[in-house]
Amino acid sequence: MNKKLQQTINYEIFDSLESMPQADRDLYQQAIAATEKSHSPYSQFKVGAALLLDTGEIIDGANQENMAYPSGLCAERVVAYGASASHPGKKFVKLAIAARNANGDLVANISPCGSCRQSLLEFELKFENDIEILIPAGEGRIMKIESIKQLLPFHFSF
Ligand code: THU
Repeated sequence: MNKKLQQTINYEIFDSLESMPQADRDLYQQAIAATEKSHSPYSQFKVGAALLLDTGEIIDGANQENMAYPSGLCAERVVAYGASASHPGKKFVKLAIAARNANGDLVANISPCGSCRQSLLEFELKFENDIEILIPAGEGRIMKIESIKQLLPFHFSF
């Protein structure tokens, strides 16, 4: 029988950085600090990411641009590929993302782009382990999304 279905996204909203659990807050603050590692002379948009591994280690990084624009890479993939290459076999547990605009102000809303979602999904599938995502959600709020899968419904995989 034909059906109309829905898919839900499970996420939590924290009113402020201060109201988050300490570990999430530390990870998010590390993502903010990592914006300073950005190489973004073309967009002036500094994205920082901090990834918690199951070992408790945190890998951070930032977007890296190139004068041949498509050669650049988003912060999320810099960190995910870096962690996979430097800590092979370690599960990805949680990823925090923050950004600063050309004025150096924190950006109120940012969410991983489609290519980053697909790239992160690879590790969620590989490790059979959901990756929580922490992102700014307007007016100082922080959103915690339960998994990458939920950010990429009907994802590509084979
Ligand atoms: N960027 C990221 O680092 N992450 C995203 O999820 C989207 C965009 C970077 C790419 C580019 O260096 C700059 O932000 C402006 O698009």
